Amino acid sequence: MIFNRVAGLDLDLPANIRLADAPVRYPFLWDAARQDKTQWPGFAQNGLDVLAMGRNVGEVLGVFAWFHPTGGILPAPDGARHVEYLRGSSPDFVGLQKLETTIRTLGSPKWPEGWPVRRDLQASGQQIFNQRCAECHAERDAVIPGTWQTPVRNIGTDPKEWNNLQAMSASGVLTGSRQPPFIGDRLKDPDTTKNMLANAVVGTVLEDLWENALPSSKRKGGMACGRRSTPICTGSGREKSISNPPISSRLTPTRCSNNSMTG
Ligand code: HEC
Repeated sequence: MIFNRVAGLDLDLPANIRLADAPVRYPFLWDAARQDKTQWPGFAQNGLDVLAMGRNVGEVLGVFAWFHPTGGILPAPDGARHVEYLRGSSPDFVGLQKLETTIRTLGSPKWPEGWPVRRDLQASGQQIFNQRCAECHAERDAVIPGTWQTPVRNIGTDPKEWNNLQAMSASGVLTGSRQPPFIGDRLKDPDTTKNMLANAVVGTVLEDLWENALPSSKRKGGMACGRRSTPICTGSGREKSISNPPISSRLTPTRCSNNSMTG
């Protein structure tokens, strides 16, 4: 769904939309902040604030956030395509950071009081875990302090989501762009949906970091949709400011055209 939303609806390339046929299940949240890799296929790096922000931005771009990147007028200094990611986009960076901070405080659920626990089986259970599960599920320190190594391998469960990520999608307005500011390979057309999602996420996060480093008078106001009180799609003199749009309007893909918000 995330890939269809970003590569298909947001980039306005319906041919990128594919049958969402990978099995999904609501994931456990309590260890999300402690894994060195997240997302079902384990493709997202984790463990630093900026990486967690990438995961969370990817998630909101894939559901209800607006995301309408536009090609910049001038190419980047190295000739790569310059893309503006934030104008007309709506990730709420402050809110996402709050969610992430809250997730860190979660622990796994406690065995309910009063439920019988067979303490006599504890030692043999520990032994079975060590023999048959610890190889992959033990808490081993990863490179980033505070995170555990997550094995990412095909263990014979359903690899469909991983396979779907390798599918090629047309890159539209993102074609030829690097992750700003000028890191990573240029996005080809077509490229893997995985690279496109990474480009969208990294571009959005880095542009936000860059914008925040500027004095407020110089900011583009692109995060405006996220900061609900400021205008979106600035520049036409016809900007609308949105105040907490109803959830129904957020469920419908919206589009910035001619610098005004429609849909
Ligand atoms: C060779 C590595 C390996 C071993 C050994 C292993 N697992 Fe796993 N396990 C994985 C991987 C990789 C996943 C994630 C893939 C998936 O969910 O399909 C996983 C998923 C799981 C999940 C599901 C977690 C979720 O979020 O759905 C449970 C529960 C689990 N393992 C328990 C065990 C237990 C209990 C043992 C020992 C009896 C064990 N595993 C042995 C690699 C392993």
